[in-house]
Amino acid sequence: MAETNNNPAVIGWEETTPVPDGYEFNDYLKEEDGRLRMDGLDLAQVLHDYGTDQGFGRTLPSPLEIIYLPLIRRQIRRMRDYFDTAREEIGYAGQFLYAYASKANAAEEVVRTTLGVGAHHEMSSTIDVDIARIMIARGLLTPERLLICNGFKTADSQYMENIIRIKDAHDLVIPVLEDLDELSPLINSGKQFEVGIRQKTYGHNLTAEAMEAVNSRFGLNIEQVWKTAEYIDASPGLQLRLYHAMVGSQMADEGAFVDYLRPGMEVYAQLRQRYPSLNIFDFGGGMPAAMTLNFQFDYLAFAVGLLSALQETCDRYGVPVPDVMGELGRYTTAAHGAHLFQVILEKDNGSNLPWYIIDGSIMTSFPDSWALSEHFICLPLNNLDKPFQQVQLGGITCDSDDVYPPKKSKSALFLPVDTERLTLGFFGIGAYQEMLGGVRGSKHCVLPEANELLVDRDADGNLQFNVIRGQTNIDVLNNLGYFDGV
Ligand SMILES: Cc1ncc(COP(=O)(O)O)c(C=O)c1O
Repeated sequence: MAETNNNPAVIGWEETTPVPDGYEFNDYLKEEDGRLRMDGLDLAQVLHDYGTDQGFGRTLPSPLEIIYLPLIRRQIRRMRDYFDTAREEIGYAGQFLYAYASKANAAEEVVRTTLGVGAHHEMSSTIDVDIARIMIARGLLTPERLLICNGFKTADSQYMENIIRIKDAHDLVIPVLEDLDELSPLINSGKQFEVGIRQKTYGHNLTAEAMEAVNSRFGLNIEQVWKTAEYIDASPGLQLRLYHAMVGSQMADEGAFVDYLRPGMEVYAQLRQRYPSLNIFDFGGGMPAAMTLNFQFDYLAFAVGLLSALQETCDRYGVPVPDVMGELGRYTTAAHGAHLFQVILEKDNGSNLPWYIIDGSIMTSFPDSWALSEHFICLPLNNLDKPFQQVQLGGITCDSDDVYPPKKSKSALFLPVDTERLTLGFFGIGAYQEMLGGVRGSKHCVLPEANELLVDRDADGNLQFNVIRGQTNIDVLNNLGYFDGV
């Protein structure tokens, strides 16, 4: 069910009583002996010495980013299982193609992990092509993987030139045409390309007419779609392989998600009647991810609904069902990222609720909480076995918007009354937040970037740790042009 004013996002523990022993907040966050475990990882113990060790052998200062890679693999495997079950249930003849939309998080460890479990790769800019080239050289982007090139790639752009060049290193490159203008460089390249066409489908539209009327810069209108298909057909080097119909982001309702894709399915089937090389229906992004504790989405129902609707549409037009591609960004990466902070001050100045001030910035660490009033899970890492109270969080910057819950929020935040060595974590922040906030660079109130702790598990489930150093004060000063030191 979508979160609304009457059904606000649940962002943490909502009682004044301690969290019961062994309580599971979701499928990867669990209380154990008063501390919070992330898929078994004792987070407080990474920041504070409790006299025990989980293989890391030391502590790191707060604030700290946690990158927990097993959750990326789990997400991909689960979605494939949902689609396998759905295909079996309805006897769907096509495949499900899981592509990772790298715009959600282009960090090396993330792309390495998605490719490591066999995901196809979707990209949107010229640097993405360079990343793909590095991954091909490392043997991670293997020849059978589809490389989907979305985004604007005008005729004389670096991106287009890079796409044409990478074709020599990787055969399965599929440029998805956003505009007719993108055709001529592909034709002139003299290379053989399978291509996609993106229709203007963005929005919550139930009919072809509504879709046509939408105000969106993405994709082609129906007349342009047919014209582009004709040009592709007339070009000896090009073949139409993919139809792209993305309808939105973080779709909340599985039935509505399928319904908004239906007008595009009609167009797919009509195109397929005329162009038999077409065999991928790409619904783009929009697959939602749990960033709060009352998030609900029936992924299996979505998969069954989508494949059934495609099957029904293709039967009606007498064409074979397509392979179905999803370009999953948020769904793939939201859960694997967490940001840990220390509460450095409890301040009661007669405001509505006590302020807990943390040693970092909320608005620069996950900008969507400030820009879009987006909610993320916020839980203490220790003192969970002690009483809680309702509070508000303040970042350490001097910005009045650097608060949590977001200003317009109806959600309540409860944290332990005992703030002695209290640390807390924000969860579900692994998609888009780091990319929007920027990696390295200079941040609001010149706060340095935190260290990152990369955590993985080996084949036996043992934890493995790697530290990516954050910024020093000197890094920040140099970055701003103060090269003479202090
Ligand atoms: C073309 C395209 N594909 C995929 C995505 C990923 O979307 P999501 O993060 O909702 O999975 C986006 C996001 O903007 C997109 O523009």
